[in-house]
Amino acid sequence: MSDRVLAEASEQIAAVRRGARPAPVVRTFFDEKTFTATHVAHDPVTREAAVIDSVLNYDQASGRTHHDEAQRVVDYVRAEGLTVTWVLETHAHADHLSAAPWLQMQLGGKLGIGAEIVRVQDVFGKIFNAGTEFARDGSQFDHLFHDGDRFSLGDMEVTALHVPGHTPADMAFVIGDAAFIGDTLFMPDYGTARADFPGGDARQLFQSIRRLLSLPGETRLFLCHDYKAPGRDCYAWETTVAAERGGNIHVHDGIEEDAFVRMRCDRDATLSLPNLIVPSVQVNMRGGRMPEPESNGTRYLKVPIDTL
Ligand SMILES: [Fe+2]
Repeated sequence: MSDRVLAEASEQIAAVRRGARPAPVVRTFFDEKTFTATHVAHDPVTREAAVIDSVLNYDQASGRTHHDEAQRVVDYVRAEGLTVTWVLETHAHADHLSAAPWLQMQLGGKLGIGAEIVRVQDVFGKIFNAGTEFARDGSQFDHLFHDGDRFSLGDMEVTALHVPGHTPADMAFVIGDAAFIGDTLFMPDYGTARADFPGGDARQLFQSIRRLLSLPGETRLFLCHDYKAPGRDCYAWETTVAAERGGNIHVHDGIEEDAFVRMRCDRDATLSLPNLIVPSVQVNMRGGRMPEPESNGTRYLKVPIDTL
C-alpha cells in the first residue's frame, strides 16, 4: 500500500481547496429499484465529464432491458452541453446491470475499470462456465486502472485508488476534491459494504477504508448505494471523510481491524444475495454486454443451480 499515492491524492484535493484547480460539479441520479447512485462529474471550465456507475434497467421476470435510468443521464449531459470522456465503473456490480456500452454509444467516452477485473472475470467465468470466447483479460474495457494512476478530466486531476475488499477489483476515483468510492463505505449511519462475494475479504475492506479515511477531512465522498438507515427517511449519497471518521457506525475512528472483521463477517452471514446478482455478474464481467446470441439470434443468461 503506497503512501505516495495517498500523498498525491491529498495534494490534488488541497489544490482544489486553495482554488488552484476547479472543483467538479456532481449531479447524481438515484435508481430506487437497485438503490444505486449514478454520478456525473464535470469540470465547470471545460465541461468535460465522467459518468460513474451507470444502471441498465432489467426486468427479471421478462428478461427485458430498458434505458430509462441511463436516458436521464443522457438528457442531463446534452442539456448541460457536457463532453463525456470517461465512463467509469468502480467495480463489477452484483446488484445492477451496467449501462456503460449503451451510454458510450450515446455519449462517447472510454470505459474504465480496475485492472483486477481479470480476477473477477476468472472467478465468474468459471461459475458461469463461460466458453473460451469469453476473454478473461479485461479486453472488454478500454482502460484498466492500477493504484496510483493519474489522468486529467478537463482542468481537473484524477487519481485512481485500488480499494479491494468488497470485490478484488474495486477502485475509488478521486476527481478534484471529490472521491467516488463505490462499495466501500456507505453513509455514516448505514456503515460499510459487504465483503462476502467470491473474492471479497473483510480485512482487505477495512484496510481500503482506512486508506480512504486518511484523505483530507473535507474530501467529498460520493457513494454507489444508499438503503436509508433506520430512522432516516430520505436517500443520501454524499458525505465527507471527517463525517465518516467521526460517526460511521462500522468504522469510525477507534474501531480496530479485528473488531471490524468480526462484525462484518457476522453481518454478512445474515444477508441474502442481491436480487439481480445472477444477471448482473454475467453482464458486468463482460463490460456491460450480454452474452453472444445463440443460433436463433437470441441472447441468453444462465442460472447456476446450487452454486452461489
Ligand atoms: Fe457492489
